[in-house]
Amino acid sequence: MEASTSIALICPRCRAADRAFPLLVDELTCSNLDCGHAYPTLAGTDIPFVAVGSFEDYAALDAEASFSDADGVAVWIETLETASPEWELALRIGMYATAHYEKPRSLASRLYDRFIADLPIEIQSAVDLGCGVGGFSVELASHNECEVIGLDASGLSLRMADAAWAGGTIAIPELYDGVRLRARSTGLPLPARAGQVRWLAADVHNPPLMAHGFDLVSAINLIDTAAAPTIALRQAAALVRPGGYLLLAQPDAWNRPATDPEHWLPSNHATWDNLLHEFGLETVDRDDGFTWELARTPRYRFQYTSHARLARRITPAS
Ligand SMILES: C[S@@+](CC[C@H](N)C(=O)[O-])C[C@H]1O[C@@H](n2cnc3c(N)ncnc32)[C@H](O)[C@@H]1O
Ligand SMILES: [Zn+2]
Repeated sequence: MEASTSIALICPRCRAADRAFPLLVDELTCSNLDCGHAYPTLAGTDIPFVAVGSFEDYAALDAEASFSDADGVAVWIETLETASPEWELALRIGMYATAHYEKPRSLASRLYDRFIADLPIEIQSAVDLGCGVGGFSVELASHNECEVIGLDASGLSLRMADAAWAGGTIAIPELYDGVRLRARSTGLPLPARAGQVRWLAADVHNPPLMAHGFDLVSAINLIDTAAAPTIALRQAAALVRPGGYLLLAQPDAWNRPATDPEHWLPSNHATWDNLLHEFGLETVDRDDGFTWELARTPRYRFQYTSHARLARRITPAS
């Protein structure tokens, strides 16, 4: 669906090179004449992404499928060969989508109610980092008139999120006989409002977004999957405007394929509070027993007890 917020994007290539921040203008082109890089769009998803490899590498990771709506996603899910990489990815996406969209008390709505519903600010702009299939992005959009960016490195997840947002229904991959996947459809909590949500394929370590630009930044199950958690955290913090908030939620349980052990952060309050403080934020609320389940099959569930933290920007970002 054609959906673009008015939130300005900046060129991640220029920022990586010399810390200048030229805007991306029409057709995602860098306004710096020395750069002029034009970022691609694949199947409707904008890709202001430079951190790993090239567009060709990125496109190779994406699904060759028509994802115009939930039906398109469902057809694709049913074609996946058991235990193929796409099947594994779809299954993992389905586990998180179930947790986030499952009614009546989804993970997204429980996090929203616990940490965001009573904030003393009006949320006009928000970015959901590592949004996956967009459960929390959609939750934010459903409660606020705000513009929301859903940002993730996975084009496949974003295309599923976009199809769901456009059609008001998400097709969630689920295992139904131990080996095959099928799609289970569930409605979104609101009708799509054109222009309210924009999905971006980008890298959280170098997001194409303005520092201080957002009333609310969320990172749900992201920091523990980031290659460089401290950098991801610093970038997430830098996006928060003075007086704005950062919501983090993850089990702080690291795994080697996602994050090299030398980057693992200790799971204690002092480490996280000190890092957030260094990045200009203070922790204002937390819940170290925030639980949710991921169901690999209806009979095999993982329960996570996560750390959920809310922090507020007290000094300007550097
Ligand atoms: C465990 S999933 C969580 C997705 C969603 N927030 C949720 O809670 O369901 C982690 C997500 O982070 C994304 N991710 C990992 N590293 C990233 C990076 N460097 N930049 C952007 N997204 C990233 C993955 O593609 C994946 O969608
Ligand atoms: Zn540039």
